Amino acid sequence: MNRVDATGTLLFYCRPGFEGEVAQEVSAAAQAEGIEGFAKAKPEAGFVTFHPHDPARGAHLAAAIDFHEMVFPRQMLREAVFLQDLPAGDRIDPIVAAARPMGNRFNGFLIEMPDTNDGKSLSSLTRPLALHLEKALAKAGMDFKEPRSPDRLHVFFVGGAACYVGVSAIDNSSAWPMGIPRLRMPGGAPSRSTLKLAEALQLFLGPKEEEKRLQPGMKAVDLGAAPGGWTWQLVQRSLHVFAVDNSAMDPALLETGQVKHRREDGFRYRPPDPVDWMVCDMVDQPSRIAALAAQWIREGWCRETIFNLKLPMKKRREEVERCRDIIAEGTGDVQCTLRIKHLYHDREEVTAHLAAIPPPRS
Ligand SMILES: C[S@@+](CC[C@H](N)C(=O)[O-])C[C@H]1O[C@@H](n2cnc3c(N)ncnc32)[C@H](O)[C@@H]1O
Repeated sequence: MNRVDATGTLLFYCRPGFEGEVAQEVSAAAQAEGIEGFAKAKPEAGFVTFHPHDPARGAHLAAAIDFHEMVFPRQMLREAVFLQDLPAGDRIDPIVAAARPMGNRFNGFLIEMPDTNDGKSLSSLTRPLALHLEKALAKAGMDFKEPRSPDRLHVFFVGGAACYVGVSAIDNSSAWPMGIPRLRMPGGAPSRSTLKLAEALQLFLGPKEEEKRLQPGMKAVDLGAAPGGWTWQLVQRSLHVFAVDNSAMDPALLETGQVKHRREDGFRYRPPDPVDWMVCDMVDQPSRIAALAAQWIREGWCRETIFNLKLPMKKRREEVERCRDIIAEGTGDVQCTLRIKHLYHDREEVTAHLAAIPPPRS
């Protein structure tokens, strides 16, 4: 059984430059739980820690936070122990000693680093270390392939001689190493934006739901579609797409026969009949996009929508919360689910999934 260590520290990974937003989110969550503490966020570090004044409350906070509802963090660890001044000749023993009290049965083991240039340069250190570390942990009696364990073990290097050791809850964390999906740029897609929608579908739906909810023959509208990276994802899944944009679409997409190009204003366009999906990557004020997405759901023009909210402003978290309120108001009486996430493929923006909850069958 895994024992719970009492360091109480929570560790979050994020895109460099978004540490402030993560600190705000976790501080708000702690406040909501009545847990006092402080966040440490160094600009551009690519991670944030939260330290409850009472370390015994750390595990409580980690359990109270729904990671999947958080916007800016890519990963969440609890009980993080910080090790520094690791001797160059023996980094392994202190890591094993720190990991031992965290348990001996895990459902996975990851060696990671921040998504920064400095972090990337650490891979020449961690790659050869990984094998030795795994062996040493196994020798200390640890098993990382226990499917019944609720936890995964992480070693997160923040320098050549410094790392955090911590655990993540399998059902309340990202399954991706460093919280980053490894997606290849598909050969035929006309823009890199295509990866945003691919990631959003993986994250918000997952393979099983995607198969159910994006079926061949379904209809979709893509607002701000040109040159067609998002449309391409829908076409690949055999949907029929109305691509709305004044700019030119990739001719290869038009030749599939699955795409109808409409040179219209995305804010004024209305589908001839209700469609299954609306996706939107128009560059405009987030509040306008949020209101538009809510309108599509409220009017029943689509059942689900994925849309991007551009955040060039300073107060990014406040803007996201404002959009949440706009959506809550704009969807009116329609019961909905909403998730908003800063995707790996998002830069100064976040991506949202809003879906009407269908009434139960009688
Ligand atoms: C970021 S690009 C979209 C990229 C696209 N998702 C892709 O994967 O290739 C934004 C697009 O929105 C379009 N756009 C901006 N405002 C619009 C509006 N009011 N109506 C329709 N299209 C708009 C622009 O012409 C531009 O092509």
